Amino acid sequence: MSAVLQDRVVVVTGGAQGLGRAYAQRVVADGGTVVVADLDERKGAAVVDELVSAGGAASFAALDVGDPGAVAVFADTVASRFGAVHGLVNNAAIFSTITMRPFWEIPAAEWDRLMAVNLRGPWLVTSALLPGLREGARVGQGASVVNVGSDAVWLGRPGYLHYIASKGGVTGMTHAMAHELGGDRIRVNSISPGPTYTEVPRSTVSPEQRTAMQAAQALHRDAEPDDMVGVVAFLLSDDSRWITGQTLSVNGGVLHR
Ligand SMILES: NC(=O)c1ccc[n+]([C@@H]2O[C@H](COP(=O)([O-])OP(=O)(O)OC[C@H]3O[C@@H](n4cnc5c(N)ncnc54)[C@H](O)[C@@H]3O)[C@@H](O)[C@H]2O)c1
Repeated sequence: MSAVLQDRVVVVTGGAQGLGRAYAQRVVADGGTVVVADLDERKGAAVVDELVSAGGAASFAALDVGDPGAVAVFADTVASRFGAVHGLVNNAAIFSTITMRPFWEIPAAEWDRLMAVNLRGPWLVTSALLPGLREGARVGQGASVVNVGSDAVWLGRPGYLHYIASKGGVTGMTHAMAHELGGDRIRVNSISPGPTYTEVPRSTVSPEQRTAMQAAQALHRDAEPDDMVGVVAFLLSDDSRWITGQTLSVNGGVLHR
């Protein structure tokens, strides 16, 4: 176990399952204290129970990142419990539950809710946690925010235009946030993951698309959560101290032009 996140508090939104769960596990493995924040209280609490039982430092907070009131309450809870926040992974998103359909058939209410969670959510959560992040930035090389985008933006994959638009927004927002927060010693980067298969079934990749996407990669295999966690751990740690405002493609070598 490395200890690069020793004495650091890291909030992982959407940490109840899938990739967020893997990021939470890695934060603890790296010696940090993780706050798992998720809409799914049962699964989120189970992730935390598992981490605590294994001797890790973890706590769960119920959170709907799409609800400004809930985000404000969450930020107050984190502030009173921890004070400083050293890292934030804006991972929560409507993803595995998406119904694929042509963009002209997406209901407006579904578009609005997805945008509220996937795009407005990272902005709201980062804004609400700013006092804690500013406090946390006094430690080491500063605080770090990691936003989760998607390679789907560059691939132009059909079937979930609202999702693509939201992740395009996350990527653009990342670069601007980095400039606004650099003076506070807070770095902001995003990752652009390619398709990654977790324990959660989903309908966003058909078997034919899965084969085609694997063929387009330089590394011809499916990605799994362990392929993503290292880059997030790196971006959270002081090892990436001079990287901010960037989007890192983590996709097995797909070249976007
Ligand atoms: N798995 C992939 O292939 C892939 C590829 C590119 C990007 N991503 C991105 O990585 C992240 C995680 O992906 P995943 O495969 O683990 O997704 P997932 O759908 O399995 O998990 C998403 C998590 O976010 C939580 N969540 C949803 N809405 C929420 C809300 N309003 N408030 C708080 N929590 C909420 C869910 O409860 C769940 O725990 C997402 O941002 C996704 O868009 C995933």
